[in-house]
Amino acid sequence: MTKGSNKLTYDNKIILAPMVRVGTLPMRLLALDYGADIVYSEELIDWKFLRTIRRVNDVLGTVDYIDRSDGTVVFRTCAKEKEKVVVQLGTCDSERALQVAKLIENDIAGIDINMGCPKEFSLKGGMGAALLRQPEKAKAILSTLVQNVKVPITCKIRVLSNVDDTVSLVKELVSTGIAAIAVHGRTKDERPQHPNRNDTLRRIAESTSVPVIANGGSREIEKYADIKKFRDECGCSSVMIARTAQGNCSIFRRQGQKELDTVIIEYLKYAVDYDNSPSNTKYCIQNMLKELQETPKGKKFLECQTLEQICFLWGLGNYCRKKELEYQAKGNLGRRQVTP
Ligand code: FNR
Repeated sequence: MTKGSNKLTYDNKIILAPMVRVGTLPMRLLALDYGADIVYSEELIDWKFLRTIRRVNDVLGTVDYIDRSDGTVVFRTCAKEKEKVVVQLGTCDSERALQVAKLIENDIAGIDINMGCPKEFSLKGGMGAALLRQPEKAKAILSTLVQNVKVPITCKIRVLSNVDDTVSLVKELVSTGIAAIAVHGRTKDERPQHPNRNDTLRRIAESTSVPVIANGGSREIEKYADIKKFRDECGCSSVMIARTAQGNCSIFRRQGQKELDTVIIEYLKYAVDYDNSPSNTKYCIQNMLKELQETPKGKKFLECQTLEQICFLWGLGNYCRKKELEYQAKGNLGRRQVTP
């Protein structure tokens, strides 16, 4: 996407939320097939990106960012998602963030800065929710990117416990020129079982000039119609969905959700087509199966170690074998995507 062309916009959109290990290429493509307008990558840490080298993978038809030290794929993308994929960065440093942005800006549609992660790892590194307490640093990161990068810049925050403080913070962040802001309606210390602060989201949306993307509604979103209900309740322009999509990605389908087995089959085809690692594939399917892991099929699944073994359980054994042979014939695949 070049400057002046159809830039990604964020109003009236339904979005796949950033999710570590879940938001890899197969899940993003599946979400787009089902009707998501925009898909966020999992959070990728700036210094990890800076250790990568960009490679066009002719066998898979992808662009891979490969770790120079161990050869693993840190980020894999393809033309099909180019105008819809937003890469979420974990960073506490505007210069490093800019270096990453310049490295990837021609392959993606947008860049988001994670300002909501409450995990020890992020907070200690001054990233994620730590930035909520350092608005000057947060603004410096956003301004640097807005002024020097050709794709739109956004950030994703959590609310503060005080509504007025949250509104002021959002105003400051928006003053940098970001294209939109995603807000998870829980504080850094609140957990998923706490109610989402939908009223705070409404107050933010009423006082902000850019699209506000409402997040945190998965407990209220069980079917497609609930997405609009959540959006209207929050008075926001767009909705971003994490856990409901992690469990059944077809929540994005206007026509209604598909059976879980169908979703798994469609997910697995993408995992095979894009040579996703068995461990990442298994993790994503585990999150779909949840308590079904206790069933006889679920137990067999837990024993699987290869993509082919997993595929076999859902009737895709031949599909997987054929694809692997096809790829071998075309040449070396390069290393698989490995997520810790
Ligand atoms: C997350 N979340 C998250 N947030 C973020 O900004 N970057 C990330 O990489 C992740 N990773 C992640 C992994 C998993 C497995 C889950 C369940 C969640 C938080 C997520 O994007 C979202 O803010 C919350 O889950 C609330 O939205 P829902 O789940 O109510 O739709």
